[in-house]
Amino acid sequence: MTNTTDTTPTETAAVDDRTVDKDRVLIFDTTLRDGEQCPGATMTHSEKLEIAELLDEMGVDIIEAGFPIASQGDFRAVAEIAERTKDSVVCGLARANLTDIDRAWEALRGARRPRIHTFIGTSPSHRAIPNLTMDQMAERIHETVTHARNLCDNVQWSPMDATRTEWDYLKRVVEIAIRAGANTINIPDTVGYTAPEESASLIRRLIAEVPGADEVIFATHCHDDLGMATANSLAAVAGGARQIECTINGLGERAGNTALEEVVMALKVRHDIMPWHTRIDTTRIMNISRRVAAASGFQVQFNKAIVGKNAFLHESGIHQDGVLKNVETFEIMRPEDIGLSVSNLVMGKHSGRAALRSRLRDLGYEVGDNQLQDVFVRFKALADRKKEVYDEDLVALMRADEDPR
Ligand code: KIV
Ligand code: ZN
Repeated sequence: MTNTTDTTPTETAAVDDRTVDKDRVLIFDTTLRDGEQCPGATMTHSEKLEIAELLDEMGVDIIEAGFPIASQGDFRAVAEIAERTKDSVVCGLARANLTDIDRAWEALRGARRPRIHTFIGTSPSHRAIPNLTMDQMAERIHETVTHARNLCDNVQWSPMDATRTEWDYLKRVVEIAIRAGANTINIPDTVGYTAPEESASLIRRLIAEVPGADEVIFATHCHDDLGMATANSLAAVAGGARQIECTINGLGERAGNTALEEVVMALKVRHDIMPWHTRIDTTRIMNISRRVAAASGFQVQFNKAIVGKNAFLHESGIHQDGVLKNVETFEIMRPEDIGLSVSNLVMGKHSGRAALRSRLRDLGYEVGDNQLQDVFVRFKALADRKKEVYDEDLVALMRADEDPR
């Protein structure tokens, strides 16, 4: 079997990780492949290198760096990311044919920890495209996974549209891929069709019923068409999956992929009921979110979980007052946990006196009750005219108050 000449163990890195710690969930980031693949999200070569470096530094286990046969640019990006990445496994995508797989390996062979990811659509509508019978497709899967495994010790196989594939056929092809040497079996919900209970039971049944299933890692790869990608991914983990495929900011085709920041923070914040963990340094989330938004041109919606501009902002008087007295009243995680320096109180028409006094104090103004009342009246009048009252506006109000001429 050929492999890299590096002495770093490439042998089924993911399987080793699971052997060491059965509660560890591997994070497979596909921002640079499935994320970049969505219309309008194209990134430049240097942006891809920078994002891969940030993913490596934040503790992502596997970086899917691209689809090497898709273009010369993708090939170059995968090859360069493969050479530069220090810790993460670097993965390249290939369809179920020998040319794709050879090209992926050519791009990946310089990686310290390479992985080939090969896939084929197994549901009825996907099977109709290459016009293969079920038996012919099964034979193709055996041939291509065997070929990939002869090149690389770390092979992932995906039955695309698994959640709409007939159960008996899914079981059959998963077993074939395992026998041919796949170390990771990814179960994609390609069109965002499944729901949490089904997602959990699909993985649970595959692990229970497919011979050899306990020798591999099962992965979950969800799309967000019905807004359930995060819930479906976490349910799959409850069913036994130990790799979540995701993207920064949920970037991806149509409604996007599972958002990395959501599954990672959900596992961290609700460890009491979801006793699994990742090795992501969550304090790097905000920075990479901003970098991906800038590089892809896909701005993050204001109310997006975890990384939206408003995710840690409080405007109403009751909320601001509560947060000032005890931050836990309206915050279930600390902004510092994702790399935000402070929780922000937005000053607007719903803000109360306590928040105004606190913000004025931050700006260097200690006000007595009478002055506060005076400034508060003028602050409310201003807030009625403006959506948001900024620090500069407050400073101007204070100046006017101190020098009313
Ligand atoms: O959504 C999907 O099925 C995919 C595969 C290529 C894994 O992205
Ligand atoms: Zn996908």
